[in-house]
Amino acid sequence: MLVMKRVRLSINVDHVATVRNARGTVYPDPVHAAVLAEKAGADGITIHLREDRRHIRERDAEILRATTERLNLELACSSEMIEFAQQLQPDLATLVPERREELTTEGGLNVAGDVDGVTQTVQMLQEKGIAVSLFIDPETAQIDAAAATGARFVELHTGRYADAPSEARIEKELVALRKAAAHAGQAGLRVNAGHGLRLQNVRPVASIPEIEELSIGHAIVARAIYVGMEAAVREMLEALRG
Ligand code: PXP
Repeated sequence: MLVMKRVRLSINVDHVATVRNARGTVYPDPVHAAVLAEKAGADGITIHLREDRRHIRERDAEILRATTERLNLELACSSEMIEFAQQLQPDLATLVPERREELTTEGGLNVAGDVDGVTQTVQMLQEKGIAVSLFIDPETAQIDAAAATGARFVELHTGRYADAPSEARIEKELVALRKAAAHAGQAGLRVNAGHGLRLQNVRPVASIPEIEELSIGHAIVARAIYVGMEAAVREMLEALRG
């Protein structure tokens, strides 16, 4: 009997904090959104504490740590963030590149360009019992470098797939994601994926056998404005599991 794998869905609630911070109010609260997301069946919550604190703040992270079963903290490889993660003890720490002027994380972490530095960061987190994932572009060189750091997970950047302007390019980027996921699996890495995924494009990525978890934020928070958080999460779960 063919058993379909169950892909986990982690909801990124950063944009709820973006709306809150736009007016300096206490609402909408990312913690409230996380409760609703979990109630609707989400498997975990993702947050990115950025250097400029443009959305999530330390207090949000601390409350979410205390109230969420599976918390994924995205962070840059800076000593300030590493120290914060060591104290917070998320279930997963995903290392991402960060540039102050970017609208969102634009490319994957260049692990191949700094294997020693990333290895050091991975060790500092793993020795505190925190599993580490590296957010990388779906490229062989980055996957090999990620495996060399001792990280347990990679998160494949699905942005090029999500932004592809034609059917041919979408297919090409999907092939790259499939190959990258297989290669990562062979290298002993566990595989997550995310960025730019929406109801309309999530299924082919969710169907890649090695992918365990998808991290989705913008499309779900945007949809929640119209239909509410719980309905937005349920719709995505249906779309990715079919
Ligand atoms: N994964 C990582 C590492 C990210 O930085 C982001 C964006 O915050 C996501 C996944 C989610 O992307 P999106 O908001 O486009 O769903």
